[in-house]
Amino acid sequence: MFKGKARAYTNIALIKYWGKENQALILPKNNSLSLTLDGFYTETEVLFTEEATKDCFYLDGVKQSEQATKKVTTFLNLVRERANCPFFAVVRSHNHVPTAAGLASSASGLAALAGACNQALGLNLAPKELSKLARRGSGSACRSIFGGFVEWDRGDSDETSYALPIDAQGWEQELAMIFLLINDQPKDVSSREGMQRTVETSAFYPQWVKEAQADLHIAKEAIQHHDFQKLGTVMEANALKMHATTLAAVPPFTYWSPDSLRAMNLVRSIRQAGLFCYFTMDAGPNVKVLCQKKDIAAIFEVLSSTFSDQQMVVAYAGPGIELLEMDVTK
Ligand code: ADP
Ligand code: DP6
Ligand code: CO
Repeated sequence: MFKGKARAYTNIALIKYWGKENQALILPKNNSLSLTLDGFYTETEVLFTEEATKDCFYLDGVKQSEQATKKVTTFLNLVRERANCPFFAVVRSHNHVPTAAGLASSASGLAALAGACNQALGLNLAPKELSKLARRGSGSACRSIFGGFVEWDRGDSDETSYALPIDAQGWEQELAMIFLLINDQPKDVSSREGMQRTVETSAFYPQWVKEAQADLHIAKEAIQHHDFQKLGTVMEANALKMHATTLAAVPPFTYWSPDSLRAMNLVRSIRQAGLFCYFTMDAGPNVKVLCQKKDIAAIFEVLSSTFSDQQMVVAYAGPGIELLEMDVTK
């Protein structure tokens, strides 16, 4: 019997990962850059035991269907092969983040699973190796191994595609991200499906890859110089470019809802009033607002004209993956 448990925090990309070069290995088309957050996370424990007759996946205490267990089993097969482990597993996971709503549950979820497996099977993977392993579960998960600002270097093989932290000399501690929760229900088009359809059919896609590389360069310069306006401006523009690609996909689709647009307009008007804040969006209708900690109260006041207190959640820069003690009574 082999047990492991880990906690991983979600990360939100400032420069997005959107499209795969290699689907089986989850190698991306472009580098991406994220901020790991403290407010949303997953805790996962895994138990490999000869008593299990198939893999079982419990999410928030609910046993998941065979279909919903597939991504977990595919990942477990990978680690079983690597560790030469013949046992099925029982996985118990708790998401302190809405699942599949564009709030990066696959990042914290698959990173936590990778960390728990690393511990259970004594793989002893160093963070960079663990990042490569987590990537195989969900691309964005490779960035959740590390805290603060993180860059995922796309590489060109399983060995060379992994994330590493970006040293911002603690500047990330001055920043915050306000989550505007517009809809926390599972989305219609998963990130995986959405980006694949875009790569295969969107006339705008080739331009996205070029833009993302250039935007990443600007974002790294901004971080190096602690230039908030420059970072926010390129983050917002990059998100809009990503979402533009979906409109040209066949069939076309969008993750935006009317309230997403309302939120984006509100952020623009706050900026016009002289308070610096910028939005980004992922594969879902929720809007995230990057700001400086010192401005949170003033920005909150304007946002609360449109959004309720329950819809606004503030998160700060968070840590990398953490190993946890198993509950020995179980
Ligand atoms: P999100 O925007 O939440 O990352 P995705 O479409 O990328 O949405 O991924 C959602 C999928 O990630 C879920 O359907 C599930 O397969 C997987 N997932 C989410 N949380 C967990 C978890 N705690 N453990 C294992 N897999 C998870
Ligand atoms: C829009 O990592 O969820 O949030 O690799 O297929 O599991 P898979 O997709 P996922 O994609 C994230 C897309 C994004 C942008 C980002 O996080 O960089
Ligand atoms: Co995801």
